Amino acid sequence: MSIEKAYNSWATQYDTNINKTRDLDKKATIKTLQRFEFSHVIELGCGTGKNTAFLLEKAERVIGLDFSEEMLKKAKLKFNDSRVTFQKTDLTASWQIDDQIADLITCNLVLEHIKDLDTVFNQASKKLKKGGYLFISELHPFKQYAGSKAKFETEAGIQELETYIHHISEYLDTAFNNKLQLLELKEWFDEDAEHEIPRLIGLVFQKLK
Ligand SMILES: C[S@@+](CC[C@H](N)C(=O)[O-])C[C@H]1O[C@@H](n2cnc3c(N)ncnc32)[C@H](O)[C@@H]1O
Repeated sequence: MSIEKAYNSWATQYDTNINKTRDLDKKATIKTLQRFEFSHVIELGCGTGKNTAFLLEKAERVIGLDFSEEMLKKAKLKFNDSRVTFQKTDLTASWQIDDQIADLITCNLVLEHIKDLDTVFNQASKKLKKGGYLFISELHPFKQYAGSKAKFETEAGIQELETYIHHISEYLDTAFNNKLQLLELKEWFDEDAEHEIPRLIGLVFQKLK
């Protein structure tokens, strides 16, 4: 099943099924971004808008991009707010957004589905103003090496999605090649599991001024 179709099917239960990765990502996003100032945000792979409500607490404008019609439908139902718009977009194609409009771009739990990081980092860098931030929160590569990947339950059994592993060095090199400087790298653990493999990696980059 294609990734897009899988998320169309997952959309009905995405917000409600048991999902430690989703829940930890929400906490990590708030803890990280509450220390930053931002007003114009692009949310890559916004899904059902799980993180959009927090972004709207600080932002004047949020544009959510995602290629899953069904995930976007869920997101649109949550917000009756002229500051937010959602656009059906394949992140591996060209994004229909002006350059240098964002002071924050977020990307949560998306890049494991995208083979070529450079396509995303290159466009993100173009859409960011100088000094703007790119925040990435993804399943930690160590977790991926141990076999974890996005999956959900269906009537026919567990549906595993197509995923790609990105090493930490790949994130850092791709950012460097796109004028994005590393500000912060954090590892996020499940509660009471701080000596186990981290679940998430959080990266904050800043576009060179
Ligand atoms: C695990 S969900 C995360 C959703 C949201 N960011 C969150 O943290 O809850 C992954 C999302 O990425 C989207 N996605 C994956 N590959 C994509 C692509 N190439 N273009 C656009 N969206 C994509 C999926 O449709 C899905 O909504």
